[in-house]
Parts: sequence; C-alpha cells; structure tokens
Amino acid sequence: MPQIVTLIPGDGIGPDITQAVVRVIEASGADIQWDRRDAGVSAIEKHTTPIPQETLDSIRTNRVALKGPLTTPVGVGFRSINVALRKEFDLYSNVRPAYTIVRGGRYEGVDIVLIRENTEGLYSGVEHYVGIGGDPRAAAESVMLVTRFGVERILRYAFEYALKNGRKKVTLAHKANILKYTQGLFLDVGREMAKEYEGRVQFEDRIIDAAAMMLVMDPGQFDVIVCENMFGDILSDLIAGLVGGLGMAPGANIGKDAAIFEAVHGSAPDIAGKGIANPLALLLAAAMMLDHLDMRDEAARIRKALVAVVVEGDSLTPDLGGTGTTDSLADAIIKRL
Ligand code: NAI
Repeated sequence: MPQIVTLIPGDGIGPDITQAVVRVIEASGADIQWDRRDAGVSAIEKHTTPIPQETLDSIRTNRVALKGPLTTPVGVGFRSINVALRKEFDLYSNVRPAYTIVRGGRYEGVDIVLIRENTEGLYSGVEHYVGIGGDPRAAAESVMLVTRFGVERILRYAFEYALKNGRKKVTLAHKANILKYTQGLFLDVGREMAKEYEGRVQFEDRIIDAAAMMLVMDPGQFDVIVCENMFGDILSDLIAGLVGGLGMAPGANIGKDAAIFEAVHGSAPDIAGKGIANPLALLLAAAMMLDHLDMRDEAARIRKALVAVVVEGDSLTPDLGGTGTTDSLADAIIKRL
C-alpha cells in the first residue's frame, strides 16, 4: 500500500520546486501517493480562503504533508497561514538540521539539529499595551508563557530524536540566569529528564548568549540543541548561515497527530515563474519526511545524490552560483540516484 501524503504546491516558486521534488522522490522508488491540495494566495480565488477546509481535512486524514512556501497575503484579516497551520495541528516541535554540504566554507563538518518549541514562549500571542497618563501606548507587555506540559513534550522529543538518530548529545540553550521562572522551569525539567537518558545521550546546558558565540566560534561542539520558541527562531537561522544560508535549509513541524515538512525559505516572488528556483531545501525537507515515514533507504539515497551533485557543481541554480534551472538540477539528482 502506498503511503498517502498531502502535497501543497503553494505560491510563487512553490509549484515549480514541488514538481521537481516529486520527480526526484518518484525516481527514488519511495512508494508515495500524493493528495494534492491548495493553500496560500493561489487558493483564495477558488476557495475564497487561503486555508481551505478540504486541505485541513486532507492533512488530518493523511497525517503527513509536504508543503511549498505560502505567500502571506498583505492586508487586514489575514494571519500568517504557516502560524495557523502550526496552531491547527498543534505542531509543537520545529526541527531544523544544518550540515555542511559545500566544502571550503568557513567551517567543515557542521552537523547540528536544532529543535525549537513551536507553540509557547514569547510567541504565544499574549500581548497588550498599557495606557499611562493619556498615552494608550505608553508601555507594552508580551507574556512568555511556559508550561510544564509544553516543556516536557519538547524535551522528550529532543532526547528521543537523539536516540533514534544516533546523536550523542543534547544541549539545552536557555536564559535561566535572568528569566528564573520561565527559563528556570525549562532548565529544571531538562536536567531531571536527562537522568533518564544517562549513559545513552549526554546532556549539557548553555546560556543562550554564550551558545550563540560558541556556535559561531566552534560549531563542531554541538549536536542536538533544544530551546524555547524565540531563541530557537533566532538560532536556527544562525546555524543555517553557518552552512551557506537558507537555500538549503529544510524544516519539519511535528505534532502528535500530524507533521508538515517544508523549506525554510518563502515563495520568492522576485524569481517566480522564471524556472530558476533552487529545489534543494524542499528536497531536503522531503528527505526528512521519508525518514519520518521510515523510508530511510530512499531518504539516504536522495541525500547522497544531492550532495554529489552539489559538490560536482555543474547543474546548480543561480543562487548557488550556477547557471542551471530547477528542472536541470532535479534531472542531475535523478541521474545520480
Ligand atoms: P523569500 O525566502 O521568499 O525570499 C528571500 C530571497 O531569497 C529572495 O531574493 C528570493 O529570490 C531568494 N530565494 C528564496 N528561496 C529561494 C530558492 N528556493 N531559490 C532561489 N532563491 C530563493 O522571503 P520573502 O521575500 O521575505 O518572502 C516572500 C513571501 O514568502 C512572503 O509572503 C512571506 O510571507 C512568505 N514566506 C513563507 C514561508 C513559508 O511558507 N514557510 C517562509 C518565509 C516567507
């Protein structure tokens, strides 16, 4: 029986890169049947909403989705669709791996997986202005919401991820020295849980600012990093920068009942329709999806072919310094499979 996966081509460069990725996955032999659904600006005309109910139903049924980038419509009344999807399916874990593919950069051998809490912290949306002396916006407050439930499930995810993927160490990055309650809770639960994994996964904690410096000075010392929402947002872009930027940065949003895999970059309206978008970030996200579906051989073969093609350097798209197209890059990877 093929595995059914919801496929959301999305906006801008989305349809081109998803089509290229679908071709590579099919060539890998992975037994997947795609359930194509609309979302984003491209869905509004047909469905009058950027997130049609039938798309949500499809994700709920299939539990796994591969998603192209979605343009967030500018204007009152539109929330970010990506944030809405995260909330709808309680996708509490954002997994962002970064490893060196192109040699000769600033660092060799970077291989870090950042696991970011995706639903709480300063991004929980509890914000308000405080009016003082006639000025309705004299002050503003954002609440950093941290629950034991939220902290336990993201830390559990990080330790289990390390075990399943043969990773040696989990680093908890925090600011418990200043934010003694919210970050203190995160750190305390982490230290307690680490005892369960003693002898199997090493554990350390680092203050977030020091961790940022160490990442830039000596990224080789990190393996799996886990942190709260905003710290993770910032650090994940930092580690993408260590290995050449967003062009090859994949991400997974994982919850108990669904998982959505996507590239970190957006819909790139400036190059949409030109056929030159780089499909590699979405392809790496698709490889993460195959791992998630236990199609590890196919995922490994795709990664190997991708690395070979990037190292060879002949078919790369303009953002990677080449003169290739979305399709010629996909073709080169298919040839290597
Ligand atoms: P962007 O990531 O779309 O583009 C930034 C720059 O990177 C542009 O110069 C673009 O041409 C280039 N770029 C991005 N992906 C590329 C690729 N695969 N190949 C070659 N070049 C690539 O970010 P921007 O312009 O800030 O956002 C555009 C739209 O995308 C917005 O509506 C934004 O809300 C949405 N967006 C959606 C995301 C998602 O669906 N996960 C994530 C980020 C932004």
